[in-house]
Amino acid sequence: MKASVIYWSGTGNTEAMANEIASKLKELGADTNLISVENASTDDAKEADVLALGCPAMGAEELEEDYFRPYFDSIKEIIKDKKIAIFGSYEWNSGEWMDLWKNECAENGIAVIDALIAYDHPDAEALAKCRELAEKLMK
Ligand SMILES: Cc1cc2nc3c(=O)[nH]c(=O)nc-3n(C[C@H](O)[C@H](O)[C@H](O)COP(=O)(O)O)c2cc1C
Repeated sequence: MKASVIYWSGTGNTEAMANEIASKLKELGADTNLISVENASTDDAKEADVLALGCPAMGAEELEEDYFRPYFDSIKEIIKDKKIAIFGSYEWNSGEWMDLWKNECAENGIAVIDALIAYDHPDAEALAKCRELAEKLMK
């Protein structure tokens, strides 16, 4: 099983979630690729059986616009038949960006099996949910 965890993180909070998810995927036996989106290619999405995509709330409840948004747009068609989970950190509001992102996935025929938000730097409870997300991807 090939897994890719592809994320953008400005101050490390979403990165901490990505690290936890990737480490659990590895523990569960997946051949896991952990990549910051700046370094990700469409092949990293194409070659993966399961994908975890991470981006914090940026702009006004939006995905980060310079790297993550264009990358996500470029893989929308490719990831339709894969098992996908989305995750990210927020701080100012209550997670609306994740609802919008989830809706966008649904509108594009992308079946999301988990959408996980963590307030600021993920605490122990949020990290446990990251491990659960990895378990759901591997089921
Ligand atoms: C430019 C900018 C825009 C942001 N916009 C939002 C927002 O719309 N809603 C929100 O809840 N948090 C917002 N935040 C807060 C971040 O989502 C929060 O600090 C998050 O933990 C950052 O994650 P990261 O460390 O992975 O970059 C914003 C932060 C920045 C720097």
